[in-house]
Amino acid sequence: MHSLFDLTNKNAVVTGGSRGLGKEIALGLAQVGANIAIISRQESPEVVEELEKFGVKAVSIAFDIGEISEHKQLLKMVEEKLGHVDILVNNAGVQKRHPAVEFPQQDWDYVMNINANAVFSLCQVFGQQMLQRGYGKIINLASLLSFQGGLTVPAYAASKGAVMQFTKSLANEWAAKGVNVNCVAPGYMATDMNEALMNDDVRSKQILERIPAGRWGTGQDMQGAVIFLASQASDYVHGFTIAIDGGWLGR
Ligand SMILES: NC(=O)c1ccc[n+]([C@@H]2O[C@H](COP(=O)([O-])OP(=O)(O)OC[C@H]3O[C@@H](n4cnc5c(N)ncnc54)[C@H](O)[C@@H]3O)[C@@H](O)[C@H]2O)c1
Repeated sequence: MHSLFDLTNKNAVVTGGSRGLGKEIALGLAQVGANIAIISRQESPEVVEELEKFGVKAVSIAFDIGEISEHKQLLKMVEEKLGHVDILVNNAGVQKRHPAVEFPQQDWDYVMNINANAVFSLCQVFGQQMLQRGYGKIINLASLLSFQGGLTVPAYAASKGAVMQFTKSLANEWAAKGVNVNCVAPGYMATDMNEALMNDDVRSKQILERIPAGRWGTGQDMQGAVIFLASQASDYVHGFTIAIDGGWLGR
């Protein structure tokens, strides 16, 4: 059956696909037929097995996306193991929490390097081969902190603000060339990244009270919007950020 959302024979790369939101995003894309390469610091054969249950090809590549000078090498590895890349999901991201007044420069640089510099470079390197082929879908992980400042996370907010902004810049240059660049912005999701928040009784109560949907989000909540942005259904959607936040931004 023809479906606007079908990704059969499309090849997708998901960074940070070994756990958390990235793993569920990879499973969602595999469910609708995409072959998947997950990129994470360690290989994840168990996630590959889960992906293969959908009858798609799946590979796991151990790579630290902070090694920006090696990104061209990463593209080569993906092309050898999976083939050309139709879909890139820049999901890998990191968090560091300190009061702004004493935020260590080293942590600022680390967060900016992984969340902003590496993501821009991956867009460039994978985008180049998409532009040559005249087809591609890039989905960057933004955040509520692309819109808001948050508390004790200035580097994260700066990095996610950058991601949302350069996504628009890339879309402006690439939209007419067959390459869509968009973002998804998760709200407060129950993953390892938010362990500190979930374990803080005061903050977790305050957060939950402000979410209209009345619950934290899950990795499965990400799947629909990512499939949409990876598929033909979003061919005329460029430079936009879809919030998956249980209604948080509307409050
Ligand atoms: N969880 C949330 O509430 C939330 C909210 C907004 C945005 N996000 C964003 O969603 C994305 C996924 O978040 P998550 O909650 O699943 O986080 P997580 O910490 O559970 O997983 C992050 C993934 O990124 C990978 N990763 C981190 N640094 C890497 C590196 N240098 N090289 C390769 N892989 C690396 C990790 O191995 C892991 O697989 C991130 O970009 C995050 O900023 C999450």
